[in-house]
Amino acid sequence: MPEPAAPVRRPLFVVFEGGEGSGKSTQARGLHRRLQRIGLSSLVTRDPCGTEYGRAIERRLKRSKQFPPATELFMFAAARSLLTADVIRPALLAGAIVISDRYAPSSVAYQGYGRGIALGTIESLNRLATGGIRPDLIVLLDIPPDKGLARKQGDAWDRFHHEGLSFHDKVRKGYLEMARAEPYCWTIVDATLPSRTIAALIWARVAGMLSGHFPV
Ligand code: TYD
Repeated sequence: MPEPAAPVRRPLFVVFEGGEGSGKSTQARGLHRRLQRIGLSSLVTRDPCGTEYGRAIERRLKRSKQFPPATELFMFAAARSLLTADVIRPALLAGAIVISDRYAPSSVAYQGYGRGIALGTIESLNRLATGGIRPDLIVLLDIPPDKGLARKQGDAWDRFHHEGLSFHDKVRKGYLEMARAEPYCWTIVDATLPSRTIAALIWARVAGMLSGHFPV
């Protein structure tokens, strides 16, 4: 009798997005732990700082609040390009579930809707940086900016915290527009709900996408 074929694992790419203080990192790590508990190979990373180069870029961005918007866009795109090539693509090719705390939509929301760079320009740059890899699911943790910023008081990264509320309102509007335009790959979750409720809502959506990862 021939050995049964090893189950084919379909890679899955889940991205968490949202404004300041929306709880993305907590939920991304929580999802990663939950997947590991049921024996699924997953990896959690962060855009821009999921590589050493990305961390250097983040440090540089933190030191100067004066970069022109285009410079800021290129720096995030450069970090994303390397993160995709070195971390995300290899993990997906190995059949892992990849979870990223921010990805290409952050540039559309912050540098596009927030800073006012043409969305088409950002989309072209994102295509180049991601090599065309698109998330299977983008979880938008939606929170009114005043509430999110209040949660992040005292946080070390304050490049955008000094922006007025109107900047953060534009970022939020951008996220909501993107999510509503592509409801099949975005899910909007109210980030003011209790953390456990948010985790359950995210799990309900992810669990439905997991069949390709279980042995058949
Ligand atoms: P970070 O410390 O990771 O904050 P957060 O917990 O909110 O993700 O800082 C990332 C900051 O960089 C955040 O304010 C959003 C911003 N950002 C962009 O403006 N464009 C981008 O493409 C990315 C990835 C992040």
